[in-house]
Amino acid sequence: MIEVQNLTKRYGPFTAVDDVSFRVEAGEILGFLGPNGAGKTTTMRILTGYMPATEGRAVVAGYDVFTHPVEAKRRTGYLPETPPLYPDMTVREYLTFVSHIKAGRMNRAERDERIRSVMRKTHIEDMANRACGKLSKGYRQRVGLAQALIHEPEVLILDEPTAGLDPKQIMETRDLIRSLGGTHTIVLSTHILPEVAQTCQRVVIINKGRVVAVDTPDNLTHQLKGAASLYVQVEGPADATGALQAIPGVMRVRVSDRSSGYTGYEVESEPNRDVRRDVARTVVEGGWGLVELRPMRMSLEEIFLQLTTSEQAEEARHG
Ligand SMILES: Nc1ncnc2c1ncn2[C@@H]1O[C@H](COP(=O)(O)OP(=O)(O)O)[C@@H](O)[C@H]1O
Ligand SMILES: [Mg+2]
Repeated sequence: MIEVQNLTKRYGPFTAVDDVSFRVEAGEILGFLGPNGAGKTTTMRILTGYMPATEGRAVVAGYDVFTHPVEAKRRTGYLPETPPLYPDMTVREYLTFVSHIKAGRMNRAERDERIRSVMRKTHIEDMANRACGKLSKGYRQRVGLAQALIHEPEVLILDEPTAGLDPKQIMETRDLIRSLGGTHTIVLSTHILPEVAQTCQRVVIINKGRVVAVDTPDNLTHQLKGAASLYVQVEGPADATGALQAIPGVMRVRVSDRSSGYTGYEVESEPNRDVRRDVARTVVEGGWGLVELRPMRMSLEEIFLQLTTSEQAEEARHG
């Protein structure tokens, strides 16, 4: 449904988006994740036809956004970083105005029903007669989403849809976006990790204008270091490193923490080799008390940091 090929955007000598490629399948919710300044907004502006790319190609719902901007825009709903509201218009007036611009011809009853329908979906019916300028941040964001939906687009491009919202509003917005998935193809940008794990089926991680990883949130947490590591906590001061090291399939053992009477080990094993039983047996037979044994999974947080701060980013890119 969305195909981005080798997109590059330069502002003078500065490259904000550098050879970015990804695809989004119909009905999918894709998370576009990256720190501030990574190039998310720039990419989204290009995808929605608000800005030309320096190089590369973007196709939305079958239409090249550069050669067929009108057709592509008709099928795209865009929530920019700051929703373009008119402070003096009421919510209903604003949505009516936007519907005239974007939703084309329809009779009055159809238009009223369309506006009611997007207000219902975004839970802003109570605010229909409130001036846009008097809305809270959370409602402004929802009205922004309502205007993105007004022409019933197949594709939604949402730039940090939960930015600046309180936790309850964030949950409501996530639920809303999830409910729009399936019937819409959605790209949402965020610099907040839990967002992608909870909302998106797939994640593109971008840093300094470059894609550093594309995967499911689940695979990302398995990827890289930590995938085949166990954490083992053993009672007593005795050193179990040698005994653990001797287990077939164990590649490396290191002491990760030591506290009053306990020692924690990180046991790294060969990929796809389950050494848990042998580790448990070794500890018990060695006369140490086994306090804890669990797989170590890198959190998305750690992976994100690794991808966006170290040279390991290069390794991950190339698998
Ligand atoms: N109009 C512009 N002129 C020059 N540099 C820009 C412009 N817009 C964005 N940038 C720069 O491009 C980079 C990417 O910005 P942006 O796409 O807004 O990132 P993000 O949305 O991920 O925070 C930033 O370093 C930003 O300062
Ligand atoms: Mg941005």
